[in-house]
Parts: sequence; structure tokens; C-alpha cells
Amino acid sequence: MSHSDFAPDPLFDLSKKVFIVAGGSGGLGKGLVQALYERGARLAVCDLDEKSLATLSQSFSGILTAVADICDEASMDQIVQQTLTQFGRLDGGINAAGIIRPAAAFELDVDALRMSFEVNVVGAFNFSRAIARRLPKAGGRIVHIASVSSTVANVGYAAYASSKSALSHMVRVLAREWASSNILVNAIGPSMFNAGMAVNAVADPTVSQQALSVIPMGRFGQPEDLSGMAITLLSQAGSYITGQTIYVDGGRTLV
Ligand SMILES: NC(=O)c1ccc[n+]([C@@H]2O[C@H](COP(=O)([O-])OP(=O)(O)OC[C@H]3O[C@@H](n4cnc5c(N)ncnc54)[C@H](O)[C@@H]3O)[C@@H](O)[C@H]2O)c1
Repeated sequence: MSHSDFAPDPLFDLSKKVFIVAGGSGGLGKGLVQALYERGARLAVCDLDEKSLATLSQSFSGILTAVADICDEASMDQIVQQTLTQFGRLDGGINAAGIIRPAAAFELDVDALRMSFEVNVVGAFNFSRAIARRLPKAGGRIVHIASVSSTVANVGYAAYASSKSALSHMVRVLAREWASSNILVNAIGPSMFNAGMAVNAVADPTVSQQALSVIPMGRFGQPEDLSGMAITLLSQAGSYITGQTIYVDGGRTLV
């Protein structure tokens, strides 16, 4: 037997599958788009950021892009409809749209708290339900990017952490409600990654030294570190996983 005797692994195959990626032009979102695209998935990508969506559509030919606010239920229904029209099927979605509003509790503007729940929880709900309603009888997959903050009580993160914790718990409820339709709902919880909303923190020597001191692997995540778990949860490999937040965190949640 040699390596050429092995066929491409059907366990992780995404070719011809159709997924919607929300927040797909952000730092982690772009990495997810690339990972899924390289494995043959057909993608519809929505985000608020028109400029970076335009750049994305130049880099990945054949993807559908749409400027859409995840907080707006009708916009989520619309992107689902556009995806079905363009690709003729839908297998699920991955949501990397999110916001962070760090502030010590005494300084936290309650509007920042409300906005965090609006995007990170209500938006995630809209995304999930719009997709789940239109999945085929065979079911499908929904994955959200939560955070280690779903479980770690980082100081200054009252808005972000409570919304990510709510997201992780909502995933459990949706997973239970939709399990009998074979709609599997999960989340991935990254620690600090050198991408998107964390690039400034990573570049700041004081913040980054403190952050690294609680990551046992001693390095920040890179966008490609998320690919394996995203592919697993969207492919046959994840066929019996639902309701979980799986931490991809270099050991951050062990500390
Ligand atoms: N970067 C990290 O270290 C890290 C760690 C843990 C979790 N996360 C989570 O990963 C996800 C992606 O974060 P990122 O680091 O790529 O940040 P990012 O800011 O680069 O990406 C977030 C994307 O979401 C989009 N977005 C924001 N509000 C939206 C809305 N209402 N509708 C549609 N799109 C909207 C933004 O335009 C942006 O493109 C977020 O949920 C974040 O909380 C990031």
C-alpha cells in the first residue's frame, strides 16, 4: 500500500456543499472562507463591510457576496433566498459576525452591553433560524464563532463575555430543538487570535504578554488554526456532534 492508494477523505469532504458565512470578510471570517472554498464548498458571504466584501469576491471567484446586517431578520431571510436561487441548495452556515466592547464595569455604557447582545446573540439567532427554516429534509449544520469568553471571566469583558456565554447556551437549546431534523448546531470558542478584532491587542506588548501568560501553548492562534474544527463541524466528520462549544484555544480554558 502506498499513499496513492488513499482516496480523498469523504469524512471531511465539502465539495458541492453550500454554506452561508456571516461576518465572512472579517479577520477570522476570511480565513474560514478560504478554508471552506479550498475544499470545494460553494459560499455566500454576508457582512456589513462593503469594501472588504468586494475584495473578498475578487479573491474567490464564484462566491456570492451581500452586504447584510445579521441583526436584521429580513436580511438574513433574503441572503438565504439568494443562496438557494444562485446555488440551488443549502447545507448550513457559519457565523463569524461579532463585536467586542471592552470596558470596566463602572465605565461600561449600557448601550454597549445592549449592542453586544444585539449582534452576538440576536444576530446569531436570526442567522440560525433563517438557515434552519430552509434546510432540506436531510438536515444541515450551523456553526457560530463564540469565544473562550463564553466560559472565562476576563476582567473588562462584561458585555462581550456575557453575550458570548448566552450564545453558547443558545446553541445548546437550538441543538436540542432541531436535533430530530438532523440540524446540528455548534460553536467554536477561540482564545486570542492574531486576527480581526484582536490584532491591536496582540500588537500591544503589555496586553499581549499578559494574554500569552494564560495560553499554555505560548502563542496566539492564527486564522488557519480554526479551519480544522470548522471543517469537522460542517462535514460528515461532525455527524454526531451537536450543542457543543468546542474551544480552539491553545489551552486557554485550562488555566
Ligand atoms: N480575533 C479573536 O481573537 C477572537 C477570539 C475569540 C472570538 N472571536 C470571535 O470571532 C468572530 C470574528 O471576529 P474577528 O476577530 O474576525 O473580528 P472582525 O471584527 O475582524 O470580524 C467581525 C466581522 O463581523 C462583521 N459584523 C459586525 N457586526 C455585524 C452585523 N451586525 N452584521 C453583519 N456583519 C457584522 C464585521 O463587519 C466584521 O467583518 C467574532 O464573533 C469574535 O467575537 C474572535
